[in-house]
Amino acid sequence: MIGRLNHVAIAVKDIRAASEVYRTKLGAEVSEIVPQPDHGVSTVFITLPNTKIELLEPLGENSPIAKFLERNPEGGVHHICYEVDDILAARDQLKATGARVLGDGNPKIGAHGKPVLFLHPKDFLGTLTEIEQA
Ligand code: CO
Repeated sequence: MIGRLNHVAIAVKDIRAASEVYRTKLGAEVSEIVPQPDHGVSTVFITLPNTKIELLEPLGENSPIAKFLERNPEGGVHHICYEVDDILAARDQLKATGARVLGDGNPKIGAHGKPVLFLHPKDFLGTLTEIEQA
């Protein structure tokens, strides 16, 4: 069912410093910082030949990544995102296996303007897993 790895998201406390690590040490193509108030994060997109890395920094009160950074003050991999052809079909198929879909179970528009859902990390090897309609 799952397709391409769309992105790996890394939560950081200082997105400017984190961007510089990718730009200067790894020689990556790094975007500007994009505030996403609807999602409670600022993002930087790093384009690799076969996928993307997203750096996430908390934005505003109640950021969804604030607790993660309390537990992981140095930052860390927050989630991975796989593409699916049909997000509703994928959701129903996942639910039929007993996997838990976070939130109200309805896709929301993610940081790329496409419908996304998050799956409970306890059902996916301790890894918060996002699916995005390709
Ligand atoms: Co994501």
